[in-house]
Amino acid sequence: MAWIKVDAAAAIADGEYQLVTTEDDVELLVANVDGEFHAIENLCTHDNGSLEGGCIEDGEIVCPRHGARFCLRSGEVTAPPAYEDVDVYPVRIVDGVVEVADEPED
Ligand code: FES
Repeated sequence: MAWIKVDAAAAIADGEYQLVTTEDDVELLVANVDGEFHAIENLCTHDNGSLEGGCIEDGEIVCPRHGARFCLRSGEVTAPPAYEDVDVYPVRIVDGVVEVADEPED
């Protein structure tokens, strides 16, 4: 497993996220939720749409297309029309820089 540098933690405000792409071309959204950073695959399991552009509410990202919701900590789907969870990826902070793993959590 390798780590990808995202940005300075201070550059990702609470309730915001940044898009990063792994070497395997997997897009991830790295989000700041109340000062904790979480990474989720940028893929809605309803219609394989992008989650980018969705807003964060109560620790969940809301799909901008039809409103499915996913927990940013666990990837668990919490509202239809999606019914399958999304992969989440480990995140760490090193010297004030957010890094995300290039492989999902088990
Ligand atoms: S593509 Fe996300 S809810 Fe439909």
